[in-house]
Amino acid sequence: MNPTETNCSHPSLKGCLSLPGDKSISHRALMFAALARAADGRPGSKRIDYLSAGADVQATMAALNQLGANIEPVEGAEGHSVIVHGRIRPDTVPDELVSVDCGNSGTTMRLLSGLFSGLNVNARLFGDASLSKRPMQRVLDPLGQMGATLCAETEPHFPPLRLTRRVASAPLHGIEYASPIASAQVKSAILLAGLFCPASETVRICEPEQSRDHTERMLAALGVVVAKDGLCMTLQGRADDLCMGGGATGQAGQAGEEASAVVVPADISSAAFWMVGAALLPGSAITFRRLGLNPSRLGLFEVMHQVSGVSFETGPSQTSMGEPYADVTVTGTGALKGDITIDRALVPYLVDEIPILTVLGLFTDGTFTVSGAEELRVKESDRLSAMVGILRRLGVSVDETADGYTFCGQSDFVVPVIDTPFETHHDHRLVMALEILNLRASTPLPIVGREWVQTSYPSFYADYNQLLGKPIAD
Ligand code: S3P
Repeated sequence: MNPTETNCSHPSLKGCLSLPGDKSISHRALMFAALARAADGRPGSKRIDYLSAGADVQATMAALNQLGANIEPVEGAEGHSVIVHGRIRPDTVPDELVSVDCGNSGTTMRLLSGLFSGLNVNARLFGDASLSKRPMQRVLDPLGQMGATLCAETEPHFPPLRLTRRVASAPLHGIEYASPIASAQVKSAILLAGLFCPASETVRICEPEQSRDHTERMLAALGVVVAKDGLCMTLQGRADDLCMGGGATGQAGQAGEEASAVVVPADISSAAFWMVGAALLPGSAITFRRLGLNPSRLGLFEVMHQVSGVSFETGPSQTSMGEPYADVTVTGTGALKGDITIDRALVPYLVDEIPILTVLGLFTDGTFTVSGAEELRVKESDRLSAMVGILRRLGVSVDETADGYTFCGQSDFVVPVIDTPFETHHDHRLVMALEILNLRASTPLPIVGREWVQTSYPSFYADYNQLLGKPIAD
């Protein structure tokens, strides 16, 4: 059931959520499981629990199956669990052209461009209308420097991407790459390709700011150290060193152990919607089970601590594949107050949370400023322009710049009644941000494209109903 009924007074959000597994970690867990040998040294079976069930991660899974990974769902598991059987190697991939539908997922396309370059696959990677407008030069440049033969089919450097198999006598070479942007996708594409460079070559990347470090953590947990010095890192192992099959600590398991599980922590970028929802609706209290707390993803907390009117409590922490997670409870305690400032240094720590933090800013007494966020113009939609457009339609005066925007929020902001639908441009995070905004609307704003929640969070509306104490129905 979609929430279209009129709210007379503001509701509150109450309950306990076991959110889908983190999208970024899920993509990587699948790729590394498909490359790693199991703990007993054989290709083996590697189990992943609480994987994201979103369409983006499904696209990565389908691509790996096309390469010969055999990934099967585990029936009856509490979350979404899979077992990855066998092990993909450059000498096991198909000779013929592999045509991969990356859907809406930039992470699938960019990470696979690195992985496929390393595995030396003949491939064509394509996506939907939104992905077909996203820049790919950022991965074509470094991968080309490593000797991969790939290009964009559409000028200027838009998907589809075409990878051509190199002759066996032309291995990839190393790279020392100073990335012009802080992008985990670019960094990960290079590291994935680097796993297949001769061990004698150097694979080193420096970034202007630290981007999320899931790839480095997971590689280290699976036996390949990525040595860090400041904002630079050097890959110190290769694909042959990857070994998966430990228990919840992510350490290698006992010899002969079959399919012992790694856990994907719950997605903090999905939790962000409910955290802001709880802040907007005093009296709310939500507990998130096994919430991912990777330090490179915690900009959300940094911003929410700039605002009075919301409190957090964190339980004991555990680790899987190098990723910390814990139960976290958020409580909405009262009127929101404080300036919110998101600058260039903070952007990578909350790059996907800016739409929902804008909604927080709208209902917070203070000035909301985001700068250094030009990367948002090339996400699933141009999120800067989309959010500015939404704010202006709500009657808010906004100053837009090339890399951000500024406006004044008000804790008693009243959402106007607007009949003309809000477009969401194939962008799941815009849909969910608008739905949270609607929790404070007396007449919900009409939204086009609700189905895009499937990209990252298919159970969004079920969780919405649960937190509002409504029956869960379609
Ligand atoms: C992601 C990295 C981020 C993020 C995206 C997922 C990843 O993009 O916006 O949703 O899993 O590596 P950039 O690396 O381009 O900043």
